[in-house]
Amino acid sequence: MASPFRVLQVGCGSISSAWLKAAALFPDDISFVGFVDLSLEAAQKRAAESGTTAPFTGTDVAKALAETRPEVVFDCTVPAAHEAVTCAALAAGAHVLGEKPMASSIDEARRMIAAAAKRHYAITQTRRAHGSLRAVAAAVASGAIGRLHTINADFYMGPHFGGFREEMAHVLLLDMAIHSFDQARCLAAKNATHVYCHEYNPPGSWFRHGASAMAIFEMEGGAVFNYRGSWCAEGERTSWECGWRLIGDKGTLQWDGASSIQLSLPSAEEGFLRPFETTTIPPLDLGQKGSGHAGIMGDFFRALRTGGTPETAAARNFGSLAMVLAAVESARAGQRIAVPAI
Ligand SMILES: NC(=O)c1ccc[n+]([C@@H]2O[C@H](COP(=O)([O-])OP(=O)(O)OC[C@H]3O[C@@H](n4cnc5c(N)ncnc54)[C@H](O)[C@@H]3O)[C@@H](O)[C@H]2O)c1
Repeated sequence: MASPFRVLQVGCGSISSAWLKAAALFPDDISFVGFVDLSLEAAQKRAAESGTTAPFTGTDVAKALAETRPEVVFDCTVPAAHEAVTCAALAAGAHVLGEKPMASSIDEARRMIAAAAKRHYAITQTRRAHGSLRAVAAAVASGAIGRLHTINADFYMGPHFGGFREEMAHVLLLDMAIHSFDQARCLAAKNATHVYCHEYNPPGSWFRHGASAMAIFEMEGGAVFNYRGSWCAEGERTSWECGWRLIGDKGTLQWDGASSIQLSLPSAEEGFLRPFETTTIPPLDLGQKGSGHAGIMGDFFRALRTGGTPETAAARNFGSLAMVLAAVESARAGQRIAVPAI
C-alpha cells in the first residue's frame, strides 16, 4: 500500500470543519503535515481537532510550504485569497484541492489553470456528489424524457451567515449559484453559451449586495436553463439543491432537491391535456465516502493515485465559474452576453 500524501490545510474557518470530517474517511490518502490560517488560533484549533501529532501551525503560507513540503494543499481560504494561495502551492510542487468559487475573474481562473499545467488542481464543487442529482442526470442521459429543452431551478433560502458573505458583492451568484449552475451542467451534460441575468438586493436584505437573481441561460444544443434564486427569502424554503423541473420532448422530470424524483410521461391516449403516468426514481446510493466533500475528495485522490483527471478539475469546473461571471456581467450591463469558453 502506498503511503498517504503529506497534506497542508490552508484556511481553517467554518468549511474546513467539513473537510476534516471528510478527510477522516481517507486515512490511507491523507496525512496532515500542517494547518495555516491568518488566525493562529483557528489553525491551532483545527490542528488539535485533526488528532495529528506535532503538525506545523502558523499564519504564513510561504513558510508553511517551505517547512512542511506538502504533496497536497487543501485551500479553504476566502475566495479573494484563492489565487495567491493556490498558485503558491502549485509553484511549490503541490497538487491542490480548493474550495469554490475557484476565482473571482475569468483572467484569474485562466492564470490558475495555466499554473496547474503539471499538477492536479480540482475544486470541491460538492453539490455534484449527490445521489439524487446523479439519478436525475442518469435519467436524462438515458433519454427517459427525450430531447431535453427546458431546465428550471428555484432556490429560496434565508440564511443569516454573518461574516464575509454579508459584505461581498454579487453574493448569491458568486457564493451559492455556482453550485446550482454546476448542477445544471451536470444534469444537461452541456455547457452554457449565453446568459441574460437580472440581479437585485431585495428590501430588508441583510446582505450588502446581490442577494437575489434571475438568470436565463442558453445551453449548448439549444436547451434553456432558467434560474430563480434568493438568499433573502424568509418563510417556506427550497432545498439547498434547488427545486428542479426538466422537460424533454417525451416528458418531465421533477426533483425536489432532496430525495423525491418523479418521472411523468404521457400515455398514448389522445386528448386536450394528455393523461400521464408518474413513476418514482430512487436516488443513487453514493454512500458516505461518495457524497458531498468526501465524494469530491475521494475522486481527487483516486486521480492522484491512478493518473486520471478529477471530475471537478479546474479546467472542467471553469464552465460553471464562467456561467457565474457571465451572469454577473450580464446583470451589470443589462444585456444578454456570451459565456466565455476556457
Ligand atoms: N463547497 C461548499 O459547499 C462550501 C460551503 C461553504 C463555504 N465554501 C467555500 O469555502 C471557502 C471558505 O468559506 P468559509 O465559510 O470557511 O469562510 P470563513 O471565513 O469561515 O473561513 C475562511 C478562513 O480562511 C482564512 N484565510 C483567508 N485568507 C487567508 C490566507 N491568505 N491564508 C491563510 N488563511 C486565510 C481566514 O482567516 C478564515 O479563517 C469560500 O470560498 C466558500 O465559498 C464552500
